[in-house]
Amino acid sequence: MSEFENIMSMTETQLPLPPIELRWGGPRYRDDGEYIRSGVMNVRRLEAQCELSKESRVLDVGCGPGRLLTGIIHHLGGIRRYVGMDVYEPAIEWLQNNVAPETPSASFHHLAFHNARYNPKGSARTVALPKPEEFDCIVLFSVFSHMVLNDIGLYLPFLKSVLAPAGKIYLTVFVEDGVEPETENPTDYHRDWKGPLHCVRLNRQVFEALLAENQLQVERFEYRHTNDGQSSYVLGHHGKKFTARVVNS
Ligand SMILES: C[S@@+](CC[C@H](N)C(=O)[O-])C[C@H]1O[C@@H](n2cnc3c(N)ncnc32)[C@H](O)[C@@H]1O
Repeated sequence: MSEFENIMSMTETQLPLPPIELRWGGPRYRDDGEYIRSGVMNVRRLEAQCELSKESRVLDVGCGPGRLLTGIIHHLGGIRRYVGMDVYEPAIEWLQNNVAPETPSASFHHLAFHNARYNPKGSARTVALPKPEEFDCIVLFSVFSHMVLNDIGLYLPFLKSVLAPAGKIYLTVFVEDGVEPETENPTDYHRDWKGPLHCVRLNRQVFEALLAENQLQVERFEYRHTNDGQSSYVLGHHGKKFTARVVNS
């Protein structure tokens, strides 16, 4: 099938929606309309900040049950390539059984990587794709917000290696100045946190030094504007020409 045919075969504006118990991110997503709207809002951000279009190849790391893909299909009607990966097996199984048959240009992969909250039995310390691919847009919505610095450090070389030369990474994370390098479930910070890795707050300079060590360049930073008070970054390959933009909400 050609890439064009792939796009056309994904012109469904509706995808099956995941059962409520698979929708992470709070009670707001129990409402189908709100769930879809939040996915579309993320797609609009990616259009504005990462040049996302129907022609893009997208890697959604920590895709959960595919909220971003739902937004893509509603807003763009299709996408050249979408790969979703997650450590939480029930979400990936649900996508493989319910969404993959509707979306030939998409595939979904379970990662055995350990995460105390989402994959406590996982033992892998490496991350990889089943076949070599590169992506124009790599997305991590509310994923590094549940990972410790050491694990983030294991992911960055992988993300860098699959990022197309002009590609962009969009990620959200809890970062602050003047705090410990990392704190799990900090008190008096936005809300009450419960259970392992509910919120991992990072020191901004430490996080940005890790990005620089991995030859990733910050192209945009927006402070505390998204879910639960997370900030967002847009990253590109180091050395690419760009105009940095810092937004203080
Ligand atoms: C709060 S949910 C966000 C899901 C999705 N990105 C969204 O915005 O709807 C966090 C997701 O990150 C996934 N996750 C956590 N650690 C991960 C890792 N090391 N690699 C890939 N996914 C991970 C979890 O399984 C979960 O699906």
